Amino acid sequence: MLEKVKEHIDNVQAFKADSKEAIEAFRIQYLGKKGLLKDFFDAFKEVPNEQKKAFGQAINELKELAKEKINSLKESVASQEEEAGIYGDLTRTGYPMEIGARHPISIVKNQIIEVFSRIGFNVSEGPEIEDDWHNFTALNLPAHHPARDMQDTFFIQTDPDVLLRTHTSSVQVRYMEENKPPIRTISPGRVFRNEAISARAHCIFHQVEGLYIDKEVSFADMKQTLLYFTQEMFGKSKIRLRPSYFPFTEPSAEIDIYWGLKTETDYRITKGTGWLEIGGCGMVDPAVMTNCGIDPEEYSGFAFGMGVERIAMLLYQIGDIRMFFENDVRFLKQFSNAL
Ligand code: DAH
Repeated sequence: MLEKVKEHIDNVQAFKADSKEAIEAFRIQYLGKKGLLKDFFDAFKEVPNEQKKAFGQAINELKELAKEKINSLKESVASQEEEAGIYGDLTRTGYPMEIGARHPISIVKNQIIEVFSRIGFNVSEGPEIEDDWHNFTALNLPAHHPARDMQDTFFIQTDPDVLLRTHTSSVQVRYMEENKPPIRTISPGRVFRNEAISARAHCIFHQVEGLYIDKEVSFADMKQTLLYFTQEMFGKSKIRLRPSYFPFTEPSAEIDIYWGLKTETDYRITKGTGWLEIGGCGMVDPAVMTNCGIDPEEYSGFAFGMGVERIAMLLYQIGDIRMFFENDVRFLKQFSNAL
């Protein structure tokens, strides 16, 4: 009998459990109403007197051990559960971390900056809330000039001198006022026009302005710069400069790139011509240089401006300009592996 009790003492010491259920089963087995200890205490009466002491000590030891075991197991299971609650399952494989995506407008803007920076252009910026001088007057668009209607303007409050810039050409003026030639700068930024919103037009969009002023800068320099840009940006090797009019340049031109006519999409986006307009350009009007404190007798230069949304729509085949502003994550996520 004593041997049996000792065997159980060993068993209890060796017992391991990591669930509440297993501990409870163990408790019932030893300490339950019909448990082993009850049997041993009942058997105590039958034990011969000279063995009672040793047997009594043994079963008491077994009882204490079983109680201690149960308490310590319960504690360790509870702390395991707590840890699991706080940290989750620590052995689980990790979730991949969701990285954000750069907005397509930023991607394209950065690409444009990168291409021009390779040929020595720096980046300049100006305010989105402009005054009349920088947005219009200095650019050869005096008050009541009909060309002001080319760009429907948002005025702030009732002050006609405070407006949201309608183009980044305003930064040209600021840059020329503050820096003297040689000038090579591009100015990316947000512009605003009071236009009806559609798939092709928005009241907020982005432009990149370019300005190059030095001695003896020619129209050919401009064409070569724009050709280099189109090759680097689109991988297209043919451009066309179509005569146009802008008050701040003379002569002025519209920049078309030859997109090709291989696919149905080429037909659609070039309206069957193969040519695609990406912006305007021209030789900076001498009056504009004078307005900005640069002597047009000594210097000449060219300027250009292009729409960033336009270029992003071309590069990524995006059919509706409004997508850039809706910020639908299903749209934005598609750019997560672009730089
Ligand atoms: N500012 C013109 C626009 O928003 C674009 C432009 C045309 C900019 C010719 C220029 C330029 O610098 O020379 O439509």
